[in-house]
Amino acid sequence: MFYFAYFPMSKASLAARFEHIFGRLPVLVTRAPGRIEFIGNHTDYNGGTVLGASIDRGVTVAVAPRADGVRNFHSTYTSETVMLPAGEPVRQAGAAAWTNYPLGVLAALPHFGLRVPEGFDFLADSDLPTGAGLSSSAAIELASALAFLGLTGQAPDRETVVKIGKHAENQFVGVPCGILDQGVSGFGEAGRLVFIDCAGPRFTTVPMPAGASFWIFNTHTKHALVDGLYAARHRECMAAAAALGVKCLVELSPDALRAAEAKVEPAAFKRARHVVEEIARVGACVKALEAGDLGAVGGLLTASHRSSQHLFENSTPELDFLVDMLAAAPGVYGARLTGGGFGGAVMALAGAGFGASEAEAVAAAYAAKYGARPDVLPMGVGPGATVL
Ligand code: GLA
Repeated sequence: MFYFAYFPMSKASLAARFEHIFGRLPVLVTRAPGRIEFIGNHTDYNGGTVLGASIDRGVTVAVAPRADGVRNFHSTYTSETVMLPAGEPVRQAGAAAWTNYPLGVLAALPHFGLRVPEGFDFLADSDLPTGAGLSSSAAIELASALAFLGLTGQAPDRETVVKIGKHAENQFVGVPCGILDQGVSGFGEAGRLVFIDCAGPRFTTVPMPAGASFWIFNTHTKHALVDGLYAARHRECMAAAAALGVKCLVELSPDALRAAEAKVEPAAFKRARHVVEEIARVGACVKALEAGDLGAVGGLLTASHRSSQHLFENSTPELDFLVDMLAAAPGVYGARLTGGGFGGAVMALAGAGFGASEAEAVAAAYAAKYGARPDVLPMGVGPGATVL
Protein backbone atom coordinates (compact mmCIF):
# COMPACT_ATOMS: atom_id res chain seq x y z
CA MET A 1 0.00 0.00 0.00
CA PHE A 2 1.45 3.35 -0.94
CA TYR A 3 -0.28 5.38 1.68
CA PHE A 4 0.56 5.67 5.32
CA ALA A 5 -1.69 3.47 7.43
CA TYR A 6 -2.66 3.89 11.07
CA PHE A 7 -4.01 0.69 12.55
CA PRO A 8 -6.78 0.78 15.14
CA MET A 9 -6.45 -1.55 18.10
CA SER A 10 -9.41 -3.90 18.51
CA LYS A 11 -11.37 -3.86 21.78
CA ALA A 12 -9.76 -7.19 22.75
CA SER A 13 -6.20 -6.05 22.06
CA LEU A 14 -6.75 -2.76 23.92
CA ALA A 15 -8.14 -4.75 26.87
CA ALA A 16 -5.05 -7.01 26.74
CA ARG A 17 -2.78 -3.96 26.68
CA PHE A 18 -4.72 -2.51 29.63
CA GLU A 19 -4.21 -5.73 31.57
CA HIS A 20 -0.50 -5.69 30.76
CA ILE A 21 -0.15 -2.11 32.09
CA PHE A 22 -2.57 -2.13 35.03
CA GLY A 23 -2.71 -5.82 36.00
CA ARG A 24 -6.47 -6.30 35.44
CA LEU A 25 -9.04 -5.96 32.69
CA PRO A 26 -10.96 -2.74 31.98
CA VAL A 27 -14.66 -2.57 32.91
CA LEU A 28 -15.55 -0.36 29.94
CA VAL A 29 -14.19 0.45 26.47
CA THR A 30 -15.43 3.47 24.52
CA ARG A 31 -14.65 4.90 21.11
CA ALA A 32 -15.21 8.29 19.46
CA PRO A 33 -14.33 9.21 15.86
CA GLY A 34 -12.44 12.13 14.41
CA ARG A 35 -14.21 14.21 11.81
CA ILE A 36 -13.86 15.76 8.41
CA GLU A 37 -15.17 19.30 8.17
CA PHE A 38 -17.16 18.87 4.93
CA ILE A 39 -18.10 22.53 4.49
CA GLY A 40 -18.63 25.44 6.89
CA ASN A 41 -15.23 26.87 7.73
CA HIS A 42 -15.23 28.94 10.95
CA THR A 43 -19.01 29.22 10.78
CA ASP A 44 -19.77 27.32 14.00
CA TYR A 45 -18.77 29.91 16.62
CA ASN A 46 -20.47 32.59 14.51
CA GLY A 47 -23.84 30.88 15.06
CA GLY A 48 -23.91 29.49 11.52
CA THR A 49 -24.39 26.08 9.96
CA VAL A 50 -21.85 23.39 9.10
CA LEU A 51 -21.68 19.92 7.58
CA GLY A 52 -19.21 17.32 8.83
CA ALA A 53 -18.49 13.61 8.53
CA SER A 54 -17.49 11.27 11.37
CA ILE A 55 -14.64 9.23 9.98
CA ASP A 56 -13.70 5.59 10.46
CA ARG A 57 -10.68 6.54 12.61
CA GLY A 58 -10.77 7.74 16.18
CA VAL A 59 -9.75 7.35 19.80
CA THR A 60 -10.51 4.29 21.94
CA VAL A 61 -10.45 4.50 25.74
CA ALA A 62 -10.45 1.67 28.30
CA VAL A 63 -11.12 2.34 32.01
CA ALA A 64 -11.49 0.58 35.35
CA PRO A 65 -12.26 2.15 38.74
CA ARG A 66 -9.69 2.29 41.58
CA ALA A 67 -10.56 2.39 45.26
CA ASP A 68 -7.47 4.37 46.33
CA GLY A 69 -8.43 7.66 44.61
CA VAL A 70 -5.44 7.58 42.23
CA ARG A 71 -6.07 8.57 38.60
CA ASN A 72 -3.68 6.80 36.23
CA PHE A 73 -3.56 7.98 32.61
CA HIS A 74 -1.68 5.97 29.99
CA SER A 75 -1.58 6.35 26.22
CA THR A 76 -0.35 3.70 23.77
CA TYR A 77 1.90 6.41 22.30
CA THR A 78 3.96 6.89 25.48
CA SER A 79 5.61 4.55 27.92
CA GLU A 80 4.95 6.71 31.00
CA THR A 81 1.83 6.52 33.15
CA VAL A 82 0.70 9.95 34.36
CA MET A 83 -0.38 9.48 38.01
CA LEU A 84 -2.65 12.17 39.42
CA PRO A 85 -4.66 12.45 42.63
CA ALA A 86 -8.49 12.62 42.66
CA GLY A 87 -10.02 16.03 43.28
CA GLU A 88 -9.99 19.23 41.25
CA PRO A 89 -8.14 18.56 37.94
CA VAL A 90 -4.97 20.61 37.43
CA ARG A 91 -3.66 21.52 33.97
CA GLN A 92 -0.66 19.47 32.87
CA ALA A 93 2.32 20.52 30.73
CA GLY A 94 5.07 18.78 28.74
CA ALA A 95 4.73 15.05 28.06
CA ALA A 96 1.60 14.89 30.25
CA ALA A 97 -0.22 17.66 28.31
CA TRP A 98 -2.36 15.11 26.42
CA THR A 99 -4.16 14.36 29.72
CA ASN A 100 -5.66 17.88 29.63
CA TYR A 101 -8.41 16.49 27.37
CA PRO A 102 -9.70 13.84 29.81
CA LEU A 103 -8.94 16.18 32.73
CA GLY A 104 -10.99 18.91 31.02
CA VAL A 105 -13.87 16.44 30.75
CA LEU A 106 -13.62 15.65 34.49
CA ALA A 107 -13.63 19.39 35.23
CA ALA A 108 -16.68 19.88 32.97
CA LEU A 109 -18.93 17.19 34.51
CA PRO A 110 -20.10 19.21 37.57
CA HIS A 111 -21.15 22.08 35.26
CA PHE A 112 -23.73 19.70 33.81
CA GLY A 113 -24.87 18.47 37.23
CA LEU A 114 -23.03 15.17 36.73
CA ARG A 115 -20.93 13.18 39.21
CA VAL A 116 -17.15 12.87 38.77
CA PRO A 117 -15.39 9.49 39.15
CA GLU A 118 -12.71 9.43 41.87
CA GLY A 119 -9.83 7.02 41.19
CA PHE A 120 -9.43 5.02 37.95
CA ASP A 121 -6.98 3.53 35.47
CA PHE A 122 -7.34 4.99 31.97
CA LEU A 123 -5.77 3.84 28.70
CA ALA A 124 -6.19 5.70 25.38
CA ASP A 125 -5.30 4.51 21.89
CA SER A 126 -5.73 6.40 18.62
CA ASP A 127 -5.57 5.64 14.91
CA LEU A 128 -6.09 9.29 14.01
CA PRO A 129 -3.22 11.33 12.64
CA THR A 130 -2.71 14.29 15.00
CA GLY A 131 -2.28 17.84 13.70
CA ALA A 132 -4.14 16.98 10.48
CA GLY A 133 -7.27 18.93 11.36
CA LEU A 134 -9.26 15.72 11.89
CA SER A 135 -10.03 16.59 15.50
CA SER A 136 -8.26 14.02 17.58
CA SER A 137 -9.00 16.35 20.53
CA ALA A 138 -12.81 16.05 20.20
CA ALA A 139 -12.37 12.30 19.76
CA ILE A 140 -10.47 11.87 23.03
CA GLU A 141 -12.86 14.24 24.82
CA LEU A 142 -15.95 12.28 23.78
CA ALA A 143 -14.40 8.86 24.35
CA SER A 144 -13.29 10.07 27.83
CA ALA A 145 -16.71 11.53 28.60
CA LEU A 146 -18.46 8.23 27.77
CA ALA A 147 -15.88 6.33 29.85
CA PHE A 148 -16.26 8.57 32.93
CA LEU A 149 -20.05 8.60 32.64
CA GLY A 150 -20.03 4.81 32.35
CA LEU A 151 -17.80 4.48 35.42
CA THR A 152 -20.29 6.49 37.46
CA GLY A 153 -23.42 4.85 35.99
CA GLN A 154 -24.70 8.04 34.36
CA ALA A 155 -26.22 8.24 30.86
CA PRO A 156 -27.10 11.80 29.83
CA ASP A 157 -28.38 12.46 26.29
CA ARG A 158 -26.02 12.76 23.34
CA GLU A 159 -26.24 16.54 23.19
CA THR A 160 -25.01 16.79 26.79
CA VAL A 161 -22.04 14.52 26.01
CA VAL A 162 -21.19 16.78 23.05
CA LYS A 163 -21.45 19.88 25.24
CA ILE A 164 -19.23 18.31 27.92
CA GLY A 165 -16.52 17.84 25.26
CA LYS A 166 -16.86 21.43 24.04
CA HIS A 167 -16.78 22.76 27.60
CA ALA A 168 -13.55 20.82 28.21
CA GLU A 169 -11.97 22.30 25.07
CA ASN A 170 -13.15 25.88 25.74
CA GLN A 171 -12.61 26.09 29.50
CA PHE A 172 -9.81 23.65 30.35
CA VAL A 173 -7.75 23.23 27.18
CA GLY A 174 -8.40 26.90 26.37
CA VAL A 175 -9.35 26.80 22.67
CA PRO A 176 -12.44 28.95 21.86
CA CYS A 177 -13.75 26.39 19.33
CA GLY A 178 -17.38 26.05 18.28
CA ILE A 179 -19.44 22.86 18.41
CA LEU A 180 -18.49 21.34 15.04
CA ASP A 181 -15.89 18.79 16.16
CA GLN A 182 -17.66 17.44 19.23
CA GLY A 183 -21.05 17.61 17.48
CA VAL A 184 -19.91 15.51 14.54
CA SER A 185 -18.05 13.02 16.74
CA GLY A 186 -21.16 12.67 18.93
CA PHE A 187 -23.89 12.61 16.28
CA GLY A 188 -22.00 10.89 13.45
CA GLU A 189 -23.51 7.94 11.61
CA ALA A 190 -21.96 5.58 9.09
CA GLY A 191 -22.73 6.71 5.55
CA ARG A 192 -24.23 10.06 6.61
CA LEU A 193 -23.07 13.64 7.02
CA VAL A 194 -23.92 15.58 10.19
CA PHE A 195 -25.61 18.94 9.69
CA ILE A 196 -25.37 21.32 12.65
CA ASP A 197 -27.30 24.53 13.07
CA CYS A 198 -24.91 25.88 15.69
CA ALA A 199 -27.28 28.58 16.98
CA GLY A 200 -29.55 25.90 18.56
CA PRO A 201 -27.56 23.82 18.50
CA ARG A 202 -29.63 21.44 16.38
CA PHE A 203 -28.17 18.23 14.95
CA THR A 204 -29.51 16.27 11.98
CA THR A 205 -27.96 14.02 9.33
CA VAL A 206 -28.09 13.89 5.55
CA PRO A 207 -27.04 10.89 3.43
CA MET A 208 -23.51 10.87 2.08
CA PRO A 209 -23.90 10.93 -1.72
CA ALA A 210 -23.60 7.55 -3.38
CA GLY A 211 -20.50 7.11 -5.51
CA ALA A 212 -18.41 9.68 -3.66
CA SER A 213 -15.54 9.06 -1.28
CA PHE A 214 -13.14 11.10 0.84
CA TRP A 215 -9.41 11.38 0.46
CA ILE A 216 -7.27 13.18 3.02
CA PHE A 217 -3.87 14.61 2.14
CA ASN A 218 -2.07 15.42 5.38
CA THR A 219 0.79 17.87 4.81
CA HIS A 220 2.23 17.57 8.34
CA THR A 221 2.75 21.31 8.19
CA LYS A 222 1.43 23.27 11.11
CA HIS A 223 1.83 26.94 11.83
CA ALA A 224 3.76 27.33 15.10
CA LEU A 225 1.12 29.74 16.39
CA VAL A 226 -1.89 27.71 15.23
CA ASP A 227 -3.89 27.96 18.48
CA GLY A 228 -3.16 31.68 18.78
CA LEU A 229 -4.16 32.26 15.16
CA TYR A 230 -7.44 30.40 15.67
CA ALA A 231 -8.19 32.53 18.73
CA ALA A 232 -7.24 35.68 16.78
CA ARG A 233 -9.72 34.81 13.99
CA HIS A 234 -12.38 34.16 16.66
CA ARG A 235 -11.74 37.63 18.16
CA GLU A 236 -11.81 39.29 14.71
CA CYS A 237 -15.22 37.73 13.98
CA MET A 238 -16.64 38.87 17.33
CA ALA A 239 -15.26 42.38 16.76
CA ALA A 240 -16.69 42.49 13.22
CA ALA A 241 -20.12 41.42 14.53
CA ALA A 242 -20.02 44.13 17.21
CA ALA A 243 -19.00 46.80 14.66
CA LEU A 244 -21.86 45.67 12.40
CA GLY A 245 -24.36 45.88 15.25
CA VAL A 246 -25.20 42.15 15.50
CA LYS A 247 -24.53 39.56 18.20
CA CYS A 248 -23.41 36.92 15.71
CA LEU A 249 -22.35 37.15 12.06
CA VAL A 250 -25.06 34.59 11.14
CA GLU A 251 -27.61 37.40 11.56
CA LEU A 252 -26.30 39.11 8.40
CA SER A 253 -27.25 38.10 4.86
CA PRO A 254 -24.59 38.57 2.15
CA ASP A 255 -26.57 41.61 0.88
CA ALA A 256 -26.93 43.19 4.33
CA LEU A 257 -23.20 42.73 4.90
CA ARG A 258 -22.26 44.38 1.60
CA ALA A 259 -24.48 47.35 2.44
CA ALA A 260 -22.66 47.79 5.77
CA GLU A 261 -19.12 47.50 4.39
CA ALA A 262 -18.16 51.07 5.40
CA LYS A 263 -18.77 50.26 9.09
CA VAL A 264 -15.79 47.90 9.43
CA GLU A 265 -12.07 47.84 8.73
CA PRO A 266 -11.17 46.15 5.41
CA ALA A 267 -9.57 43.13 7.14
CA ALA A 268 -12.57 42.63 9.44
CA PHE A 269 -14.87 42.93 6.42
CA LYS A 270 -12.99 40.13 4.67
CA ARG A 271 -13.38 37.83 7.69
CA ALA A 272 -17.08 38.65 7.99
CA ARG A 273 -17.63 38.19 4.25
CA HIS A 274 -16.06 34.74 4.38
CA VAL A 275 -18.31 33.67 7.28
CA VAL A 276 -21.53 35.09 5.83
CA GLU A 277 -20.94 33.68 2.34
CA GLU A 278 -19.74 30.35 3.76
CA ILE A 279 -23.00 29.95 5.67
CA ALA A 280 -24.83 30.52 2.36
CA ARG A 281 -22.59 27.88 0.75
CA VAL A 282 -23.51 25.35 3.46
CA GLY A 283 -27.21 25.90 2.68
CA ALA A 284 -26.56 25.53 -1.05
CA CYS A 285 -24.53 22.38 -0.40
CA VAL A 286 -27.35 20.72 1.55
CA LYS A 287 -29.68 21.41 -1.39
CA ALA A 288 -27.13 20.06 -3.90
CA LEU A 289 -26.66 16.92 -1.78
CA GLU A 290 -30.41 16.38 -1.63
CA ALA A 291 -30.55 16.76 -5.41
CA GLY A 292 -27.63 14.31 -5.80
CA ASP A 293 -25.73 16.96 -7.76
CA LEU A 294 -22.14 16.04 -6.91
CA GLY A 295 -20.74 18.51 -9.46
CA ALA A 296 -22.45 21.39 -7.64
CA VAL A 297 -21.35 20.02 -4.24
CA GLY A 298 -17.73 19.87 -5.42
CA GLY A 299 -17.87 23.40 -6.81
CA LEU A 300 -19.05 24.67 -3.42
CA LEU A 301 -16.26 22.78 -1.61
CA THR A 302 -13.56 24.34 -3.77
CA ALA A 303 -15.23 27.78 -3.52
CA SER A 304 -15.12 27.38 0.26
CA HIS A 305 -11.38 26.81 0.06
CA ARG A 306 -10.85 29.88 -2.13
CA SER A 307 -12.72 31.94 0.43
CA SER A 308 -10.55 30.57 3.27
CA GLN A 309 -7.50 31.30 1.13
CA HIS A 310 -8.32 34.88 0.13
CA LEU A 311 -10.82 36.23 2.66
CA PHE A 312 -10.38 34.37 5.95
CA GLU A 313 -6.65 33.93 5.26
CA ASN A 314 -6.33 30.69 7.22
CA SER A 315 -4.79 28.63 4.41
CA THR A 316 -1.12 28.02 3.57
CA PRO A 317 0.77 27.73 0.24
CA GLU A 318 1.03 23.96 0.81
CA LEU A 319 -2.73 23.54 1.25
CA ASP A 320 -3.42 25.83 -1.72
CA PHE A 321 -1.07 23.78 -3.90
CA LEU A 322 -2.88 20.55 -3.02
CA VAL A 323 -6.29 22.12 -3.69
CA ASP A 324 -5.04 23.42 -7.06
CA MET A 325 -3.76 19.96 -8.01
CA LEU A 326 -6.83 18.12 -6.75
CA ALA A 327 -9.37 20.49 -8.28
CA ALA A 328 -7.75 19.77 -11.65
CA ALA A 329 -7.41 16.01 -11.10
CA PRO A 330 -9.69 13.55 -12.94
CA GLY A 331 -12.59 12.28 -10.85
CA VAL A 332 -12.32 14.92 -8.11
CA TYR A 333 -15.53 16.87 -7.44
CA GLY A 334 -13.94 19.42 -5.12
CA ALA A 335 -11.24 19.95 -2.51
CA ARG A 336 -10.68 22.22 0.47
CA LEU A 337 -8.78 22.61 3.69
CA THR A 338 -10.58 20.88 6.54
CA GLY A 339 -10.69 22.24 10.08
CA GLY A 340 -9.17 25.33 11.62
CA GLY A 341 -6.54 25.86 8.90
CA PHE A 342 -3.01 27.32 9.12
CA GLY A 343 -1.64 23.91 8.07
CA GLY A 344 -2.96 20.39 8.46
CA ALA A 345 -4.81 18.54 5.75
CA VAL A 346 -6.81 18.97 2.58
CA MET A 347 -9.82 16.80 1.89
CA ALA A 348 -11.05 15.85 -1.55
CA LEU A 349 -14.47 14.52 -2.48
CA ALA A 350 -13.91 12.16 -5.39
CA GLY A 351 -15.75 9.70 -7.58
CA ALA A 352 -14.78 6.40 -9.14
CA GLY A 353 -12.37 8.08 -11.58
CA PHE A 354 -10.00 8.99 -8.75
CA GLY A 355 -8.08 6.13 -7.18
CA ALA A 356 -4.71 5.19 -5.74
CA SER A 357 -2.66 6.06 -8.83
CA GLU A 358 -4.32 9.48 -9.26
CA ALA A 359 -3.76 10.19 -5.55
CA GLU A 360 -0.14 9.10 -5.93
CA ALA A 361 0.35 11.57 -8.81
CA VAL A 362 -0.87 14.43 -6.60
CA ALA A 363 1.36 13.31 -3.71
CA ALA A 364 4.37 13.04 -6.05
CA ALA A 365 3.81 16.57 -7.42
CA TYR A 366 3.59 17.89 -3.87
CA ALA A 367 6.77 16.02 -2.87
CA ALA A 368 8.61 17.43 -5.90
CA LYS A 369 7.69 20.96 -4.87
CA TYR A 370 7.98 20.77 -1.07
CA GLY A 371 10.51 17.96 -0.59
CA ALA A 372 8.22 15.87 1.64
CA ARG A 373 5.37 13.53 0.84
CA PRO A 374 1.94 14.17 2.26
CA ASP A 375 0.20 11.18 3.85
CA VAL A 376 -2.58 10.02 1.57
CA LEU A 377 -5.49 8.59 3.51
CA PRO A 378 -8.70 7.32 1.95
CA MET A 379 -11.40 7.78 4.60
CA GLY A 380 -14.72 6.12 5.23
CA VAL A 381 -17.64 7.64 7.14
CA GLY A 382 -18.14 5.68 10.36
CA PRO A 383 -20.38 5.71 13.44
CA GLY A 384 -20.37 8.38 16.16
CA ALA A 385 -19.09 8.09 19.75
CA THR A 386 -20.21 4.95 21.54
CA VAL A 387 -19.52 2.44 24.30
CA LEU A 388 -18.07 -0.64 22.61
C1 GLA B 1 -11.64 23.82 14.45
C2 GLA B 1 -12.60 24.10 15.60
C3 GLA B 1 -14.05 24.06 15.13
C4 GLA B 1 -14.25 24.96 13.91
C5 GLA B 1 -13.17 24.69 12.86
C6 GLA B 1 -13.21 25.68 11.73
O1 GLA B 1 -11.82 22.51 14.00
O2 GLA B 1 -12.40 23.18 16.64
O3 GLA B 1 -14.92 24.42 16.17
O4 GLA B 1 -14.28 26.30 14.28
O5 GLA B 1 -11.86 24.74 13.40
O6 GLA B 1 -14.41 25.60 11.04
